[in-house]
Amino acid sequence: MEIVDLMEAHYRTFFCCLEDWSEDMKDAGVHKERWFQKMKDQGLRVKLAVVDGKACGMIQYTPAEYSATEGEGYYFIHCIWVHGYKQGIGNFHKRGIGKALLQAAEEDIRARDQAGVAAWGISLPFWMKASWFRKQGYRKVDKNGMAVLMWKPFKEGTEPPRWIKEKKRPAREAGVVTVTSFLNGWCPAQNIIHERARRAAQEFGDVVRFKEVDTFDRCTLCEWGIADAVYIDDKRLGWGPPPSYEKIKNKIAKRVKKAKK
Ligand SMILES: CC(C)(COP(=O)(O)OP(=O)(O)OC[C@H]1O[C@@H](n2cnc3c(N)ncnc32)[C@H](O)[C@@H]1OP(=O)(O)O)[C@@H](O)C(=O)NCCC(=O)NCCS
Repeated sequence: MEIVDLMEAHYRTFFCCLEDWSEDMKDAGVHKERWFQKMKDQGLRVKLAVVDGKACGMIQYTPAEYSATEGEGYYFIHCIWVHGYKQGIGNFHKRGIGKALLQAAEEDIRARDQAGVAAWGISLPFWMKASWFRKQGYRKVDKNGMAVLMWKPFKEGTEPPRWIKEKKRPAREAGVVTVTSFLNGWCPAQNIIHERARRAAQEFGDVVRFKEVDTFDRCTLCEWGIADAVYIDDKRLGWGPPPSYEKIKNKIAKRVKKAKK
């Protein structure tokens, strides 16, 4: 196994988080590629773990000002992912690949004279577990719903980062249902939810209004304090893997029924 910097030959597989085989990924649109084009000259770093010529793990991190955290002078890990499904290239978990990717990223970030590195994890034992980062020497410094902010300082006396917190949320409007998607573009899972919600909203005609909020724009992100989420009226779609198109459509349909009463 070797850890390499992202090169053009890997772009396709990187844009779909190594899941070239996935039907769900077909719903992700081109948002990650667009995000990459905007970020590639803004300090984005991507490293891949390659086994027998195949990319089986990835880590992507950016300067903090391109994350949903306050502050600067440190890097933020948006995503670390070792392919863990049977399909496609198969399951590469529990071979030390995650650790090797994180170590390579940390060395790279230290070499850039940064104050530390932050990452996010979920407080429950699924998806991107905060507990995995704890094992790698990170400590919890903030929480936003289920999203735990993990932190490893590289310099003495450094202030730990904080999440940018929700400032306002979409309001209910009389007689219509609003579907509001806050989208940054970095995460295909969120991009799938966005695309499904957008398509589903269109099926209801004028009674459902779809709004996209571009949270890549930092002013917009700070105005709302919401980075990546879909709301149906004032209710956020839950955490976790993307719900199916049908599930999202049914949730909108329920709200439409209520709005018509
Ligand atoms: C978190 C994650 C990156 C960890 O990757 P990994 O390669 O499995 O992790 P590690 O390198 O830490 O190895 C895990 C375990 O395997 C063990 N291991 C390492 N090398 C091994 C080997 N050669 N043989 C057997 N076990 C081994 C490690 O000791 C470790 O055990 P421990 O947890 O008891 O210490 C991976 O589980 C993952 O991708 N999870 C999903 C994250 C996600 O959803 N990301 C997307 C967010 S948008």
